[in-house]
This record gives sequence, structure tokens and C-alpha cells, in this order.
Amino acid sequence: MADEPLELGEISFSDWHAHTDKLADVGFLTVARKLPSLIRQAMRMAWRASPRDTAATIVLNLLGGVFTAFGLLATTGVLGALFSEGPTPDRVVAALPSLALVGAAAVLRTAVQAGAGWAQSRLDPQVSRLTEERLYGLTSQVSLVAYDDPDFHDALQRARLRGVAMADSVVTCTIDVVTAAVGIAAVAGVLGVLHPVLLPLLLLAVLPDAWAAVRSARMQYATMYALIPANRRKWIIGQLLAEREPAAEVRSFTMRGFLLRMYDAVARAEQDVMLGLARRQTVARLAGEALGGLGAALVYVALGVLLAVAAIPLAVAGTAVLAIRSAQGSLGRLMYATNRLYEEGLYFTDFLDFCADAERRIPGDRDTAMPDSFERVTATEVTFTYPGAATPALREVSIEIKQGEVIAFVGENGSGKTTLAKILAGLYEPDTGTVHWDDTDLRQVSPDALRRRTAVIAQDHTRWPLTARYNITMGTDKGEPALHGAAAVAGADEVITALPHGYRTLLDRRFKDGCELSGGQWQRIAVARGFHRDADLLICDEPTAALDARAEHALFERIRHHADGRTVLLITHRLASVRYADRIYVLDHGRITEHGDHDTLMALDGLYADLYTLQATAYR
Ligand SMILES: Nc1ncnc2c1ncn2[C@@H]1O[C@H](COP(=O)(O)OP(=O)(O)O)[C@@H](O)[C@H]1O
Ligand SMILES: [Mg+2]
Repeated sequence: MADEPLELGEISFSDWHAHTDKLADVGFLTVARKLPSLIRQAMRMAWRASPRDTAATIVLNLLGGVFTAFGLLATTGVLGALFSEGPTPDRVVAALPSLALVGAAAVLRTAVQAGAGWAQSRLDPQVSRLTEERLYGLTSQVSLVAYDDPDFHDALQRARLRGVAMADSVVTCTIDVVTAAVGIAAVAGVLGVLHPVLLPLLLLAVLPDAWAAVRSARMQYATMYALIPANRRKWIIGQLLAEREPAAEVRSFTMRGFLLRMYDAVARAEQDVMLGLARRQTVARLAGEALGGLGAALVYVALGVLLAVAAIPLAVAGTAVLAIRSAQGSLGRLMYATNRLYEEGLYFTDFLDFCADAERRIPGDRDTAMPDSFERVTATEVTFTYPGAATPALREVSIEIKQGEVIAFVGENGSGKTTLAKILAGLYEPDTGTVHWDDTDLRQVSPDALRRRTAVIAQDHTRWPLTARYNITMGTDKGEPALHGAAAVAGADEVITALPHGYRTLLDRRFKDGCELSGGQWQRIAVARGFHRDADLLICDEPTAALDARAEHALFERIRHHADGRTVLLITHRLASVRYADRIYVLDHGRITEHGDHDTLMALDGLYADLYTLQATAYR
């Protein structure tokens, strides 16, 4: 048993490597081509976060470059004076003015670079805030159906786990790249003035290092990208091992060994991939450094030759050595920043791609206003298929709900009741068919406007880690009477009175002084939430599954009596509770097979009559 291979679902090891190779094939030129657009996007982001700090960073960095070049040229003056003919004290005195210029340039350069650094570090937190708010602004706005799409999930995971965290460092790296490039440009300018042949030689010392750095970054990204499914799996198993909710079942089913074995299988495979990556990165780095060393040697040989043939004076050669040193410092920083910019830029691109995709998934603006109320809600020939599902969850479903009615959906598990309720609530849009509020086609109305008029007590309602009050008001404040009234109808008032801090009790044990409720108590809170919303259409999707039969009956009686002209849609498996509904729709495999009131359906002697008789005899 212990050695039986584990079925790990979506994770298949050969798939990982195929992915890795495909992505790692991208070459240096691709990277070089990608950098300008990355820099542009990062700068746009920085500008949006703070125009002042972005401008300050750029201007001060450019000034830094100017002072660097100025200092190097002044150095030539110093060396020229020192290497001239004449007594030493005279030469030193002659060098003094240039030396003062060198000193002034150094002081100014340090000052503007410090200013640039300050502006740059001010950008960091501003960019972070901007990107986080953008991400969560979008995730909470996309159509609900996006969450049923695995591709969306993957993209969201990448954007959320790495993309957002990368945004500020992409901006930092971009500025580092620009800073280092300005430093190199300053040196290159000086070298070009001294002797043009020094320029291509400088390039020779640089490119191999650049190649190695980019290649290694590329490998790293490809690996991380390929490891996302594994990371997710590991995270899911980790949740099972470390979270409170499954803790009881992990123990009662003695699942510890099984889960740890699963975790280990994924973690080991991941480790092997990472070790392979470390090896390949080292090889690439060594090759780059060997070539870079060769290039540097060539630069110095060339300098020697230029001196020997008297193509340049000694002072110029001296400055060239200093300039190349300075350029090497900038180059090191440029390489490091480019490396990081490229790697993190890929994650950042994931983030931008996610945002673009999410924006496409936000329903567009619709002009038609939501009617103030309705005489009747009609669904006509509604068909709906979940993304990736083989068969439709609803097929050509037509129903009608009149104002003030209590309507019930009945049917076996998976027959489509919840899906239909979600379409009526504006959470999903039908693939074909329409939903109307009187003459208004809901396709022409913003889904949010519809949702504001509808209250859904969901089958899988959320246990919000908020206070009891917020769990009912959901951030709207309609005053104490509305709150207490809703709680009373749902029977949540007795639950809340028993809590240590009443309505102010936090309903989550992970917080200090937090309290936990039972399933049935949570359901009462969820019902109160639905009532508090005071909507035209109240949808109760099995709100009573965790209540005993007597409590459910009492609750439905209260809902019926407190409906106050509200229209109520009930979904429940306990048919005794729907007996008094004005109309009952029976769903079977996504179709409506029967409808009518209780007596009509009993007379029909179909599925409803079967189920009802079955439950009635069970209770007798
Ligand atoms: N998010 C989803 N993604 C894909 N299929 C789903 C999803 N939710 C439900 N389904 C499928 O749609 C069908 C109807 O489900 P549902 O409306 O929840 O049924 P009911 O509420 O009647 O039990 C089922 O076959 C179910 O497997
Ligand atoms: Mg359901």
C-alpha cells in the first residue's frame, strides 16, 4: 500500500519538462527586443503611481551621468598636467584647477545620485499599492463565470503570487537599468572623444556577460512557470495539513501519512527540477564569464598597442583605464538589473496579461435602466453550459415568477436548480434564451443593477470572517430596526444574543476573541443576510440543509409570513416545505419536466409525486 503510485491529478512530470524546454529556447535577441517595451510599461506604471517621483528619478539620474562624464574629462586635464614636462611642484600646481573640477563633479554626482535614489525608493511602495488595488479591483469585477475557467485561475495565480510582488521591483530594476545605462553612455561618450576605437572594445567586454545573465534568467523563469501546477498542488496539500477546517478530518481519517506522502512526491519532483536548473545556470554563467574575461584582456592589449604606435597620448590612456573601470562598475550593475528586469519582467508581463484578460471579462457598460420593480420575471428557453463542461447544465428552460409569489424549484442533485437561480440573480448570463423583468431584457441591464435588486441566500454561503453585524449588513447600514428585524425572521437573533459580544462578536476563531458557530447557526445568519438586503426577489437556495425538519418548517413559515410583498424563490429537498408554494418547477437533467402547484403535480403522478410520496412514507 505504501508504495502504490499516487494519482496526483493535473501534475504530470513529463509535461513539466516539455514546457521548460519550450520556454528556455528563447534567445538573447528576444530578450533584447523585449526590454524596451518592458521599460516603457514599467515607466508608465511608475508615472501613474507618482509623476513627481518618476520625473525626479529620471532627471537626477541623467544629471548624474553628465557629472560622471564631466569628471572623467577633467581627469584627462589632471593627468595631462601631471605627465607634462617640467619640475614636479609646477606640474602639481598646474593640475590643481582640473583637480578641483574633478572634486566638484564627484560631489555633485553623489548629491544628485542620492536624490535619485530617494525618489526611486519612494516609488516602490506607491507602485505596490497601485498594482495590488488594480488586481483586486479586477478580480472582484470579472464575470463570475471566469472563476469556472481553469485558464483564468492559472493566470490569476501567476499574477497574484508573483506578478503583483514583481511590479515594484520591475520599476526599481528599470530605473537601475536606466541609471547604469546612463553611466555607461557617459563613459562611452568620454571614450569616443578620447579615441573611437576604444568603443567597440568596450562592447566586446560586455556582451558575453549580458548573454549569460539573460540566459540564466530565462531558465529560471521557464522553470518557475513550469512549476506553477506543482506549487499549487503543494499549496493545496499544505492547506489540508495546516488549516483549521480540515484538521479534524485529517485526524479522524488518519490521513497524515497519506497527505505527507503526497506532499513529498510533489516536493521531491520540484526539488529535482530546481537542482537541474542550478547546474545549467552555473554552466551558462561560467561560459559567460570566460568569454567576458577574454574580451577584457583584448581591451587592455588594444590600449597597449595604441600607446605603442603613439596613436593616443599617455594621459588619454590613463583616463581610458579609469573610464573602463567606471564602465565596468556600471556594467556589473546593468547586467544585474537587466537580468532581474528580464526575469521579473516576465512575471510582470503575466500580471499585465492577466489584467488585460480580466478587463475583457468584465461585462461592458449597458444603458438600459433597471425597472423599479416587476410584475413578472420570465425566463425564456434558457440554455447554459459551464466553461469546459461537456453537457449543458440547463436546456431550454422557461419559467415565470409573478410579483409576490412563492415559487419553488425541486429536483435531484445536479439537476440545475442552483444554476437557474444564479442566472435569475444575474450571476451567470444564459448562452441562449433570455430573462426579462416585465419588458426589460436583462441582457441590456448592467448585472450589478440586477444584483442590487436580488438577494441570494446561497447553498454554499460564505462564512465571512467579520463581526456578526457585518455578516448580516454586508457593509450596508440600514439602521438597527432593519438589522434586528432581519435577524428575528431568520432566527439569528437567539444565536447572536448568546454570543459574548453580541452583534460585535467576530465570527472567526482565527482572530482573538473570535467565536465559531455551528453549521445551522451559520445558516440562520445567512438567511438574515438575505432578508436584510430587502430585495424585490429573494432566492433561498437550500438555506435550510443544516437545519432539522422542524426548524426548516418554522423558518419557511416565517419567510412566507414576512415576505411582505417580496417575491420568494425556494430551493429545498424537503418537499413538505414547498407544499404551499404558488408554483413548483421540477428540474431533471437541466430541463423542466413538470410545473404547477402541489395538487396539480400530485395529480400528474410524475417525478414530484414519486419524491413526495417517498418522503411522506419515510416520515410516517
Ligand atoms: N462551477 C461549475 N462548473 C462546471 N459544472 C458545474 C458547476 N456548477 C455546477 N455544475 C454542474 O452543473 C449541473 C447542475 O448543477 P447545479 O445547478 O448546482 O445543480 P443542483 O443545484 O440542482 O444540485 C451539475 O451537473 C453540476 O455538475
Ligand atoms: Mg444546488
